[in-house]
Amino acid sequence: MTSIAKAPGKIILFGEHFVVYENRAILGAIDKYATVTSEKTNTDNILISSSLGQSSIKKDEEVSNVEKKFRPFFYIAKQLISKNGFDKGISIKIESEIPIGAGLGSSSACCVAAAASISNLFGNTNEKEILELSIQAEKTIFPNSSGADCTVSVHGGIIEYQKEKGFSKINTKNKFNFLIIDSEQIHATDKVVERVKKFKNENTNVFTELCSEEERLITKALESMENNDLKTIGKCMAQNQIFLEQIGVSNDELLSIIEEIEMITFGAKITGAGDGGCVIALTEEESDLSEYTNTTKYQTYHVSIQKTGMQVFNS
Ligand code: MEV
Repeated sequence: MTSIAKAPGKIILFGEHFVVYENRAILGAIDKYATVTSEKTNTDNILISSSLGQSSIKKDEEVSNVEKKFRPFFYIAKQLISKNGFDKGISIKIESEIPIGAGLGSSSACCVAAAASISNLFGNTNEKEILELSIQAEKTIFPNSSGADCTVSVHGGIIEYQKEKGFSKINTKNKFNFLIIDSEQIHATDKVVERVKKFKNENTNVFTELCSEEERLITKALESMENNDLKTIGKCMAQNQIFLEQIGVSNDELLSIIEEIEMITFGAKITGAGDGGCVIALTEEESDLSEYTNTTKYQTYHVSIQKTGMQVFNS
């Protein structure tokens, strides 16, 4: 049997970084996907292939000895082989249309799709277990992960997320459309999160105050989403961007992208870890931004929020 699973990437509308410290965040799943195809094999190895390379690893190898780019997938396969008492190996093929290191949840979507695909090989498609496994897998390379990205990838739609409380779906009338502008400055989420931790430790009062302000902003943003008030949502995004600048995860290039795109959309901000990666701008469904997208030097994508999260298929 071949098992295929698809999982969406994400944008963070509000609350990145603050969510690592028990605050709320609002995330949406986007129409860009990671797909993982897996099969049981007759060897003793876990075979992983992706655009980053290929590796065949003995299934009793220690997880920590495996190269970082393969480690989460090896972890998932090893856990499920052991849990199901399987005595052979697994092959895993990872394909993704989500840019890597751009703040669009590529790594989480790949972990979710791998956990879903391999779990399904053993007849299990339980969302809660798949989510738990994908978060643990991501933690093998990024121990401080809040789990937010994997959660929206599993469940889809727009969610409110808090580390201890988990998630709740936000039901909105609007589909929400965004233009994503990729600065093509690749970032490493774990390093940016470490830097914010240092900022927090050295500026405890400022950080605590920013967390409270972000909380108030999220309350306002949720109300505006309920009322489909795109103007206010855009303003809240611009305010969130200021908070992200204050914790030091923006830079001049991102700021100049934001200043330009803000003039023709409702509002814009970094999405995800920052320090590079993508900017998201909230747009009208029918808005024509071709003058910008045809002339900018950056790669742009129109995305809308996807109601469906991970999906599993047999073939
Ligand atoms: C990364 O997409 C979002 C961060 O808040 C980290 C996390 O939530 O794990 C920066």
